[in-house]
Amino acid sequence: MLNTEKTRIAVLVSGGGTNLQALIDAQNAGIIKSGTISLVVSSSPKAYALERAKNAGIETAVADRHSYSTKEEFEKQLIAFLDEKKIELIILAGFMYILSPAFIAHYRDRMINVHPSLIPSFCGDGFYGLHVHEAALAYGVKVTGATVHFVNEVTDGGKIIMQKAVDIQEDDTPQTLQKRVMQEAEWKILPAAAELVSAQIMNEKRSNQ
Ligand code: GAR
Repeated sequence: MLNTEKTRIAVLVSGGGTNLQALIDAQNAGIIKSGTISLVVSSSPKAYALERAKNAGIETAVADRHSYSTKEEFEKQLIAFLDEKKIELIILAGFMYILSPAFIAHYRDRMINVHPSLIPSFCGDGFYGLHVHEAALAYGVKVTGATVHFVNEVTDGGKIIMQKAVDIQEDDTPQTLQKRVMQEAEWKILPAAAELVSAQIMNEKRSNQ
């Protein structure tokens, strides 16, 4: 009865992993109930996210981008890790690497990403991490937020799943804004979207039986 089991999720990370932590906490709290985090893959061996996964008893794998001479080899390793664990949904949670069109096509409608702005503002190539918040403050917008979307060949351009707005305060710095966007938006909508898409995949499996 493998087909009706929970959606097997892999979380791809590169850094601190606070969004991964939000996913782990949501799984423990029963907010994510249609999926199970089966693997955490990091593009860096130094990512603190790996510690978070280990502390939660989740299997980890490292595909260090710098150890592969081509993007193709790096992605081949990623796919090998994902296939080995029979992953059905990939969550990019602070994964600081633009994936190739071939990789994206391989996981069409099976890969989601969290981005720290209200897409289509402050997104696309070059907009990642703190840079996003620097750009929002430099522009002078009064509201920003976060977006969870499916991944397609356009950077931050796939179908939007969820968004949440966050007010900008007069004295915000990129750092304070980044923290508030995480707390008020990312850590809420990423687990909610993970549950939504996991449930959709489970239902598809059921109806295909
Ligand atoms: C998060 O703010 C995430 O939205 C952002 O990087 C941070 C990772 O933090 N991602 C992007 O900018 C992708 N374009 P985390 O490792 O603590 O989750």
